[in-house]
Amino acid sequence: MKYLIRICGGPRCKENFSEDLFKEAQKLIAGREDIELEKRGCMALCHVGPNIEVINLETNDTKVHNKVVQSEVKGIIDSL
Ligand code: FES
Repeated sequence: MKYLIRICGGPRCKENFSEDLFKEAQKLIAGREDIELEKRGCMALCHVGPNIEVINLETNDTKVHNKVVQSEVKGIIDSL
């Protein structure tokens, strides 16, 4: 496993459809053993949510994607 995708499951991001982002990501990573997906708690970035954090587990580089809409999830995953 090389990447960990953490999608905010906090209340504000949920209001802004982070559950849909999670389901979309779940579908898109099917068959990819290099990506693990999980929900995380509020990142204190509610004002720019919904937020997705992508951690490269080899380098520990972390990138946070803000105001993510469902159509952007594919691009995020394809870039890994
Ligand atoms: S609820 Fe997602 S950053 Fe606060």
